[in-house]
Amino acid sequence: MRDILPPDSERWRRFVSVFAGVVEGAGYGQVISPLLEDLGVFQRIGDATDVVTKEMYDFVDKGGRHIALRPELTASVCRAFVQHRPLTPWKVWYTGSQFRYEKPQRGRFRQFDQVGIEVLGVEDPHLDVEVIALAWEFYRALGLGQVTLLLNSLGEPDDRARYVTALQAYFEANRKELTPESQVTLDKNPLRVLDSKRPADAALVAAAPRIAEFYSAHAAAHFEGVQAGLAALNIPFTIDDRLVRGLDYYRHTTFEFQGGTLDSAQNALGGGGRYDGLVESLGGPPTHGVGFALGLDRTLLACDDEGVFAVEPLHLDAFVVDTTGGLEALRLTAEIRAAGLTADRAYENRSMKAQMKVADRSGAACAVIIGSNEMAEDAVTVRPLRTDEGQQLIARSTLIDYLKKARS
Ligand code: HAM
Repeated sequence: MRDILPPDSERWRRFVSVFAGVVEGAGYGQVISPLLEDLGVFQRIGDATDVVTKEMYDFVDKGGRHIALRPELTASVCRAFVQHRPLTPWKVWYTGSQFRYEKPQRGRFRQFDQVGIEVLGVEDPHLDVEVIALAWEFYRALGLGQVTLLLNSLGEPDDRARYVTALQAYFEANRKELTPESQVTLDKNPLRVLDSKRPADAALVAAAPRIAEFYSAHAAAHFEGVQAGLAALNIPFTIDDRLVRGLDYYRHTTFEFQGGTLDSAQNALGGGGRYDGLVESLGGPPTHGVGFALGLDRTLLACDDEGVFAVEPLHLDAFVVDTTGGLEALRLTAEIRAAGLTADRAYENRSMKAQMKVADRSGAACAVIIGSNEMAEDAVTVRPLRTDEGQQLIARSTLIDYLKKARS
């Protein structure tokens, strides 16, 4: 778990604000959920999921309730839907920290942040397209150009069940050829064997049955609708029928965004899909759901690698230097800020040289200097800090106008 310090914290906030701009422009409102939920909420994500079985920060609170820090937000949003019963379609977005007890490494943390959206109550495949297109638009807004979209459909629950049976039979028949790790996975969740990135499993995984052979007519039509919609919006995608994703609630469409520059273990910048049965499993009515979450940390790493979405230095209009005791700095800084401009100042009545050093470091457009001469003349000296222009003495009453002009 890390501290996010300035100026990185500023970049985080801008990241969220760009995201909010994109999704609020499409009618999504923000949901702010608790960090903690009843453990049962997250157990609905699936008991064959590492996120649930191994990685959850769960504990018994002082009231004897078994609760957990949220490992993701889809289940929390569905719980909120069941609790508050908003009108559908319910289109929401979120941001915040998630907690998973994973092995920390580059792009993988135990506390990490996501932004995401969820829509409840609509079956239309064009909604899947809208959801994917919003993530795509967000990547464009950040300036990322090397993101690829992988797409799959896991079909309806029956299709998926028949597929899992076939997959299990296939891997069981070839069990000895699987790596010991994948043999363990096979006993828990045959689908996840497809996720194996171990070279020794590659040939067997490549020849495994394909989900597309098991689609019902309805599932096939939904998936075709999604592909046609993406094509209509010119969003390029690659069908990856080995994309099962790490959470068990998915049905029909699943997708993942991969960065071109990160190591393969951490290259998933974001992902999502449909989870049509999740609301029901939390005690609500049968409700369609689709959404995605994008990892803030990993997406920013991808931005670094592509050299985009850089941190902008803090912009200050003025830095006040006062060698008359400090009271004038107090007044001037307050005046500048009250006029809607930005200002900082030096403290502790230090020497002119020491104060100017801080002014230079501040990144402010100019130093506003007040010494005994300026005091006597009811004036201030303004010294541009980012250009070679010389300093000038101006009437104190004209300072705000001067700073406003300098800004424009
Ligand atoms: P997820 O694939 O588990 O999906 O996480 C989404 C993204 O969160 C990942 O692609 C990754 O960028 C980031 N992420 C996950 N774990 C970590 C970690 N330990 N450190 C840093 N970043 C991480 C979900 O969470 C689903 N709720 C997505 C969804 C929404 N599906 C439907 N609606």
